Amino acid sequence: MFFSAPFISAALMALSAVEAVPPVPANGLTERATCSAGYYPNNRGRCTLCPAGNYCPDGQSLSQCGTGQYQPKNGTTTVCPNCPAGTYQPNLGQASCIPAPKGGYVLNSGASSYNEASGGAFTSFRGQNRTCLTCCGYAAVGNGNTNATRCPTGTFAYPGSGSGCFSGQNPGCTVPANCTQLADGTCPAGTSDH
Ligand SMILES: *[C@@H]1O[C@H](CO)[C@@H](O)[C@H](O)[C@H]1NC(C)=O
Ligand SMILES: *[C@@H]1O[C@H](CO)[C@@H](O)[C@H](O)[C@H]1NC(C)=O
Ligand SMILES: *[C@@H]1O[C@H](CO)[C@@H](O)[C@H](O)[C@H]1NC(C)=O
Ligand SMILES: *[C@@H]1O[C@H](CO)[C@@H](O)[C@H](O)[C@H]1NC(C)=O
Repeated sequence: MFFSAPFISAALMALSAVEAVPPVPANGLTERATCSAGYYPNNRGRCTLCPAGNYCPDGQSLSQCGTGQYQPKNGTTTVCPNCPAGTYQPNLGQASCIPAPKGGYVLNSGASSYNEASGGAFTSFRGQNRTCLTCCGYAAVGNGNTNATRCPTGTFAYPGSGSGCFSGQNPGCTVPANCTQLADGTCPAGTSDH
């Protein structure tokens, strides 16, 4: 079967718009094609732009971003950056990182998972890199707390305690009017973060 010359040249032009043909190796099929850095030879041997989520350091190979890493750009040549603190990435070859959910946090960059805020601590926004401690007279019990709740009248809780509210008055600490985290990650007045 034969194609007309106009058909072939149109097909080649369409192909060359996305894939440049690599130099033919001098010794035939055993030598791998070399593309420009930021490209890799696909399984048909054609130089292809390195996709986001990967990097192509030497024009010969494609490397996936590791877990805890990301690469939003195409055509990169260097190792993928770490996900910033507050975000994580459990999968290989990803273009972006996932913010820690409310009630969770990621302390350090390069994380493949997030932690849940533990008893006596909470986070109220996504993408936090710390937790806030509960205030005097507020409780956050168990893991994954998204806020601190005020102890009922006649009960108390120590700041940062995960034990909940006890009968009696707060000994030696002042109960603030609220115990809320601000959107910029600032923790309630009178508490520290950890
Ligand atoms: C990367 O390439 C893909 C496929 O060509 C394209 O859809 C995408 O917009 C590109 N991304 C960037 C950030 O340029
Ligand atoms: C406070 O946390 C509790 C338990 O996690 C949740 O049910 C409630 O919706 C939260 N309230 C607010 C205002 O976030
Ligand atoms: C909580 O109290 C602080 C002062 O201690 C105040 O700046 C903040 O606006 C209050 N937040 C809410 C939601 O009432
Ligand atoms: C943690 O987040 C705060 C904002 O909530 C930011 O100012 C700080 O630089 C972050 N720390 C790290 C280690 O990313």
